[in-house]
Amino acid sequence: VTPLRVALLGCGVVGTQVARLLLEHGEDLAARAGAPLELVGIAVRNAAVQRDSAIPRELLTEDAETLVSGADIVIEVMGGLEPARTLLLRAIDGGAAVVTANKALLAEDGPTLYKAADAAGVDIYFEAAVAGAIPIVRPVRESLAGDHVRRVLGIVNGTTNYVLDQMASGGLSFEEAVKQAQDLGYAEADPTADVEGFDAAAKAAILASLAFHTRVSADDVAREGITHVTADDVAWAERTGHRVKLLAIAEQTEEGVSVRVHPALVPLEHPLANVRGAFNAVFVEADAAGPLMFYGQGAGGRPTASAVLGDVVSAARHRVLGGKGPQESVYAALRILPPDAA
Ligand code: HSE
Repeated sequence: VTPLRVALLGCGVVGTQVARLLLEHGEDLAARAGAPLELVGIAVRNAAVQRDSAIPRELLTEDAETLVSGADIVIEVMGGLEPARTLLLRAIDGGAAVVTANKALLAEDGPTLYKAADAAGVDIYFEAAVAGAIPIVRPVRESLAGDHVRRVLGIVNGTTNYVLDQMASGGLSFEEAVKQAQDLGYAEADPTADVEGFDAAAKAAILASLAFHTRVSADDVAREGITHVTADDVAWAERTGHRVKLLAIAEQTEEGVSVRVHPALVPLEHPLANVRGAFNAVFVEADAAGPLMFYGQGAGGRPTASAVLGDVVSAARHRVLGGKGPQESVYAALRILPPDAA
C-alpha cells in the first residue's frame, strides 16, 4: 500500500506529542488506518530551537508552504488565524485532508474552510479543537445528527478550571495558578485567551454551530472571563455550598440561539462542581436522546494529541478505504487470551 504523506504544522505542546505518537505507534496506526502514515515534515517558525528528543531534526522545516503542497493529510496545531488559514486553504486546494485543533480559526472563519473543502472534495476534522481529549465534536456532529439538540452546557477551558480549582483548594493566587497552568502545558500561548474567556467562547461557538446547524461565530458569544474573580469570591462560594466555574452555555430558545460564557456559582452537589484540575465536562440535552454527559482531560499535549490522532486515522481510512471503515487486519493483530487467563 502506498504510504500517506502526513505534514505537521506546529511543534508546540500539542505538536510535539502528535509527532511522538505518530512516530512511536506507526505500526498500530498503519493497521487501523489501512496504510502507513509517513510523517514527512514538521513546519516550525525556527528550526534551530532546541526541542524534545523525540523530534527528528531532519523533519523540521521553516517552509510550511512547500510542506503542505505535497501532503495527503495536513495536521495544523500552530494556532492563530494566520498563517494557519492560508496554509490550510493551500492544503485543501492541493487535495489534502485537514486535521486541525485551531478553535480560534474555526470559530472566526470556519465556513471559508468548509466551503473550500467541499469544493475540493476533501474532509476537515477538528475533534481536538473542543475540550481536548473528550470526543464531543463527532458525537454532536454525527451521532446526534438525527436528533434535536436543545442545550449544550459545560466547562470547556482547562486552564480556567485549573486556576479556579487551585484558588479554591490549593490556596494559590490567581497569578500563581495561571503560571502553573502554563508550566503544565494547559494554557494558550497567550493565557489572556483562556482567562478572558476567548478560548471558551470559540469552543462554545463551534459546539453551537454543530448542535444547532447554524453559523455561530466567536463574536456572537456573550463573554466574561475570570479575571475579576477574587480569592474571596471563591472562598465565599465554597462557604455557601457553591463552586465558581467558567461555564459555556448554548441553547435554543423561542427567540433564537443564545450562546454565552461566564463565571457561575455551581451548587457543590452538581457534577460540574466536581470537575477538577484541567478536566472539562460537557452536558448535551437532546429531544430524543435526553441528557448526555462527556467528561475528560480538556487540555494538555497528550490528551489533545489523542484527539488529533483519532482524526488522522479517520482521515486516512476515508482516503484509503473510501469511507468503508476498518479492515480485518485491524483485528487480526491481537492475540485473544483464554477465559481463565485473567
Ligand atoms: N488552553 C486551552 C484550555 C487548551 O486551557 O482548555 C485546550 O484548548
